Amino acid sequence: TRTQVVIIGAGPAGLLLSHLLDREGVESVLLENRAPEYVRGRIRAGMLEHSTVELLGDAGVGDRLGREGMEHRGIYLQFPHERHHIDFHSLVGRSVWVYGQTEITGDLMRARSAAGQQSYYEVSDVALHDLDGDSPAVTFVDADGSPHRVHCDVVAGCDGFHGPARRTIPDGARRSFGREYPYAWLGVLADVAPSTDELIYAWHPEGFAMHSMRSPSVSRLYLQVDPDEDVAEWPDDRIWEALARRLGDGQDGWRLKPGRITDKSVLPMRSFVSTPMRYGRLFLAGDAAHIVPPTGAKGLNLAVADVALLSRALAALLREGDPRLADDYSATALRRVWRGTHFSWWMTSMLHVTGDPFDAQLQRSQLEWVVRSPSAAAGLAENYAGLPIGY
Ligand code: FAD
Ligand code: DHB
Repeated sequence: TRTQVVIIGAGPAGLLLSHLLDREGVESVLLENRAPEYVRGRIRAGMLEHSTVELLGDAGVGDRLGREGMEHRGIYLQFPHERHHIDFHSLVGRSVWVYGQTEITGDLMRARSAAGQQSYYEVSDVALHDLDGDSPAVTFVDADGSPHRVHCDVVAGCDGFHGPARRTIPDGARRSFGREYPYAWLGVLADVAPSTDELIYAWHPEGFAMHSMRSPSVSRLYLQVDPDEDVAEWPDDRIWEALARRLGDGQDGWRLKPGRITDKSVLPMRSFVSTPMRYGRLFLAGDAAHIVPPTGAKGLNLAVADVALLSRALAALLREGDPRLADDYSATALRRVWRGTHFSWWMTSMLHVTGDPFDAQLQRSQLEWVVRSPSAAAGLAENYAGLPIGY
């Protein structure tokens, strides 16, 4: 068989790319190695930038987001005995929205089915071929065990950090950059109304803590832990006690409401960028090309921004034969990727305890600067609420 674009990976990047290409009149085949319910149920990101929300709305997949998403005008930054609101809306005129990756994934899966384009879930043995020629192909085995070979004009590698697309690029044709952090997050989802109206990012001598949310009745909370932390060492009571201490329970009358924990996992923290984001007929987007630590909520937003550029570039290439946007894709996408990479590293370094007292003093100074200087706060706000697509 033949199609215009084979998209590998049905995460937010692959699903949104398939939707945007469909709207441009470009045909695609979507391949995913997991089952749809598994992809839909993965608890990951939850905070959307201003331009992500605009893009989903313009693409016709923003209705439920508009009804159920919660607009936040800023965040709280906290250190012992002090909690300060950073008001993005008044600093840079932009907001952010709480709306889970699970919900975006569900909305995009429905749009893909409605468009009637072909998707294969639970595939195996995905392999990419002839990327440096004019007619690349992707082979895979479908859920029933039948082998397939799909010829195409372009392959989009949206298969996340562990997928095969990036690894198909010869070593001499790419360069990677990265950092592993000496800490991780323990993330929990709880059936309890959030104890805050907007997110709290807290520096605490025991370690970072964050209070986020998914809806008016579901809270999402995180604790800094060691990278090799065993979740079994964290019964629910210990989690709520650590969260209460680190988030300042009792301070100025504020209380953290505990509730039933429904999901618990440890997330590793790393920065990683693979360049360039194109090799011949293969284009990478999202986590396939870059990973950020979660502090600052950039992972999903960077994936969306990549795909916004890539869909336009592929439409120009495949419909009009104009290669200019495709030729510029990697450099344009990487400008934003490096901005997000720096911002995530900066937020991570400001908020996580290393055990070194000098680091702690510098962190304190940086936090004081952000909460006291409107220009420092505006820098944080501009990056957090997100630069315009095409920055
Ligand atoms: P993914 O969502 O990883 O999608 C890639 C898809 O490719 C997956 O569905 C995968 O199953 C599929 N795939 C892989 N291999 C193959 C193969 N061989 N064949 C076919 N398909 C394949 N970001 C935030 O901003 N905030 C957060 O709180 C946050 N928390 C996170 C928690 C976790 C545990 C993880 C892993 C990530 C988190 N992120 C967070 C990052 C954010 O979720 C990602 O940046 C986002 O999912 C990127 O989307 P993507 O489509 O590029 O990649
Ligand atoms: C969430 C995760 C983040 O990393 C972040 O900075 C903000 C919110 C979340 O999962 O809700």
